[in-house]
Amino acid sequence: MQNLYQLSYISKNMIEGDKQILQSQIESILTSASNNNVKLGITGALLYSGGYFCQVIEGEEDNLESIFETIQQDSRHAEITVLNFEKTNERNFSEWSMAFAGIEESMRFDITGLKDIKDQTSLQKAGKNIVNVLEVLVRKKQASEVVMIKNKELKINN
Ligand SMILES: Cc1cc2nc3c(=O)[nH]c(=O)nc-3n(C[C@H](O)[C@H](O)[C@H](O)COP(=O)(O)O)c2cc1C
Repeated sequence: MQNLYQLSYISKNMIEGDKQILQSQIESILTSASNNNVKLGITGALLYSGGYFCQVIEGEEDNLESIFETIQQDSRHAEITVLNFEKTNERNFSEWSMAFAGIEESMRFDITGLKDIKDQTSLQKAGKNIVNVLEVLVRKKQASEVVMIKNKELKINN
């Protein structure tokens, strides 16, 4: 696919309530993602970590921008910080409309620190690091067959 882009961001959770409410809201996000992302050829991964979301989305530039526009308007999160947005030759999550890397109580990254990063190079580095961490977590989950929404229909060659 030409014009393939990847975007990674972190955001603060605004879902109020106990873990059950959080879980059901995340399920609803993943259901939306499995419906909408397939249609737009979007793939990616999502992690909840210590009160923050980390997400990687990848796909054709216009579709990626369109889905990110929708995601940004969602009141279930706030303080969205884009870490990296770049053209890429291949997808990291080609098999997943939205792989779920899990819910972690404690913070995996120093997210509050990431938000304060001002220079582009460091942000980009943090973004790439998050992509790698999510990939490892998704693989681990895949191995233990924990809930994920697998995109079976879409055959993506990139
Ligand atoms: C952290 C976060 C990540 C999300 N990721 C996606 C996504 O990858 N794809 C998607 O369609 N919606 C995603 N959403 C949900 C959208 O903001 C929106 O609610 C949804 O696309 C509405 O579509 P629907 O009416 O088909 O459910 C996400 C929301 C949050 C809070």
